[in-house]
Amino acid sequence: MLVGLENPDDAAVWRLDDERALVVTTDFFTPVVDDPFDYGAISAANSLSDVYAMGGKPFLALNIAALPPDLPPDVSGEILRGGAEKTREAGVVIAGGHSIQDKEPKYGLVVIGFVQTKKMLTKAGLKAGDALVLTKPLGFGVTTTALKQEKASEIDIKEVVSWMTRLNKAAGELAIEFDLKGGTDITGFGLLGHGLEMAQASGISLHIDFSKLPFVSCAQKYAEMFTFPGGASDNRLFFGSDVIFDKGIGEDSQMLLFDPQTSGGLLLGVSAEKLPGFLARAGEVEQSVWVIGEVMSGDGIEVHI
Ligand code: CO
Ligand code: CO
Repeated sequence: MLVGLENPDDAAVWRLDDERALVVTTDFFTPVVDDPFDYGAISAANSLSDVYAMGGKPFLALNIAALPPDLPPDVSGEILRGGAEKTREAGVVIAGGHSIQDKEPKYGLVVIGFVQTKKMLTKAGLKAGDALVLTKPLGFGVTTTALKQEKASEIDIKEVVSWMTRLNKAAGELAIEFDLKGGTDITGFGLLGHGLEMAQASGISLHIDFSKLPFVSCAQKYAEMFTFPGGASDNRLFFGSDVIFDKGIGEDSQMLLFDPQTSGGLLLGVSAEKLPGFLARAGEVEQSVWVIGEVMSGDGIEVHI
C-alpha cells in the first residue's frame, strides 16, 4: 500500500510492481442540479477526478446508484446515461455496478486507474518556490445552493454546469507530462480546506493572491445573497484558524474560498522553471489554468488582496 488511511490522499494507491500501481477511489452524492443527465455527468466527472488528482489514468468504473422507486424510469435512465457518456469521454469502461432503492437519489462511481509510481501526484508534493495553479474557477457551491433555494437564474446554472461536467483529464495529463509532484482536486473542503491539507502534508505555506482567483461570473452575486451551503460554514470553522486574510477581503469573499465545490479543478504546484512551458502547453491543449499564488516556507495559508 503506497497511499492509504495513514496518509489519506485523493485515492488509495496499491503497488503492482516496480513501476506501476493501482489507484482506487469512490464518490457519490445527491443531485446538485435539476437536470438528471447533467447530474449523472457531474457525478461521474467528480468520481473520475480523484484518479487524475493522483497523476493516474482511470480505465474501469462501477456504477453506484440509490434511486427512489417512484422516480420515472426515464429520469433514472438519464442519470445513468449522463454518467455513462462522461465516463466514455474519459475513455473509461463501466463494467457493472449496484443499485438500491432509496428516498433521495444518490449516484456516483467506483473508479480504478493505473499510475506510474514515479509520476504520482500527492498532497505532500508541494515545494517552496512552486507556483500554485488552479484549473477551474470557484463558486459552484454557492450557485447550486441558490438553485436549491430557487434564487438562481438559468444562465448561471448553465455556466456552473459547463464547468462541473468538465473532466480533469487534460489537467491530469499536463501534470504527468511536466512531472509535477504536488496536486489535489478541489471538492467538499473548498479551496482553503484542500489547500490547507496540501500545506500540512507538504510542510509549507500557501500564499494566495485574491485578485488572481478565478470565479464563475455569478459567484459574487450569490455570495452577497449568502446562499452558501452548510458545508461552507463548517469548512470555515474547521480550517479558518490556519488562514490569515488581508483586512481588505470582505466576509462574502472569504466565504467563497471556503465554499464546497462539486467536481472542482485541480490545484497543482509548478516549479518556476517549468511554469512558462506548462502554461504554453496548457494553451495548446485548451486547458484552462490560473496562477493563483505561490508556495513558501512556513505553515498555514495567507490570502493577500
Ligand atoms: Co479529491
Ligand atoms: Co504572503
